[in-house]
Amino acid sequence: MTARISLIFTASLLFLAIFNDGRAETRQKLIFDTDTAIFNDDAAALVMILRHPEKFDLLGVTVVAGNHPAKQGAEYMLHVMELMKRGDIPLYIGAQSPLVNSVERARRQEEQWGNIGFKGAFDSPEEIRPPLGGQFAKTRPRKENAISFLIESIENNPGEVTILAIGPLTNIAMVLNLRPDLGPKIKSLVFMGGNAKVPGNVTPYAEFNFWFDPEAAQAVIKSDIPEKIMFGLDITNHAILTRRHFDEIVAAKTPITEIFAHDMGDGWPGFYENPKATAYIWDCLAAGYLIDPSFVTASEIANLEVNTVFGPSYGGTFIPPEGSEGIGGKVGVMLNLDFPRFFEIYKDLITRPLPPSN
Ligand code: BDR
Ligand code: CA
Repeated sequence: MTARISLIFTASLLFLAIFNDGRAETRQKLIFDTDTAIFNDDAAALVMILRHPEKFDLLGVTVVAGNHPAKQGAEYMLHVMELMKRGDIPLYIGAQSPLVNSVERARRQEEQWGNIGFKGAFDSPEEIRPPLGGQFAKTRPRKENAISFLIESIENNPGEVTILAIGPLTNIAMVLNLRPDLGPKIKSLVFMGGNAKVPGNVTPYAEFNFWFDPEAAQAVIKSDIPEKIMFGLDITNHAILTRRHFDEIVAAKTPITEIFAHDMGDGWPGFYENPKATAYIWDCLAAGYLIDPSFVTASEIANLEVNTVFGPSYGGTFIPPEGSEGIGGKVGVMLNLDFPRFFEIYKDLITRPLPPSN
């Protein structure tokens, strides 16, 4: 009898351990695909995700060229991962240039059709600089390429992997190009990029991530990935950080808010020099959606296309006219948010003290 009671007791403890902890049942397999700058939105998005180990099984971070060359972006990310005591998460370097776009194309585009507001890696120096503090992180990028890592992960976990893609979509397009059978095996793609109904931010027509690699964006938008959720300029234009927000975050004084202060105070948008400056936090909205989507207040399903014709609207997103059957990829387009609510989530995750050292 006593043995039976003890067996029931042990079984109940096991049940509680599995279901109360929630990890065994609900952790979402996630790959974080980024083109990070020093801190700003990509790295802040990573910090947000790393604060939720109970929600995410972060399989790896994959880096793509965009804001910076991929190898430079990797150093910035490894630094943040080290500060967050997550040097155990593997980081892989992926595409080091877009599928078709190039420095030379960007030069010709500017010559013929006017200024491009930001050209990211096309304007970056070749030499790789250390992150803030002058030391490269101890953890090094894995030798395996990000594209192979993505392929393996999707293949080994069919229907289970969500990809958060917050840079140009080159890595994802390369996966689909090499392995067209894998599209339907991705659970969901949540991405920052594009501008369905609003003007662009680097040209009058195009948003940066889509402009940097329009052919990749078009291939991914039109792919058979079952769920594509877009955080384009339509929604991110409504999330604007002011000096008041900046001060609230910097007041926390952690190694993470120090990089934040350095990057956004001294760098872009330069809050220290210009207290009236404002900044967008684009990628953070896409990361926030995976944590708590309820801050989104308006969205719609649309059929989208990306302009891949080399001309003034290269990389622009557009909704094909009604009745034009067969063109466009079905995308969930996020349109508006409750920004004060989102800011509370963002601030909390960015300003928390660092996890203790082991
Ligand atoms: C996008 O461009 C990048 O510089 C940002 O990180 C964001 O992903 C906004 O257009
Ligand atoms: Ca980005």
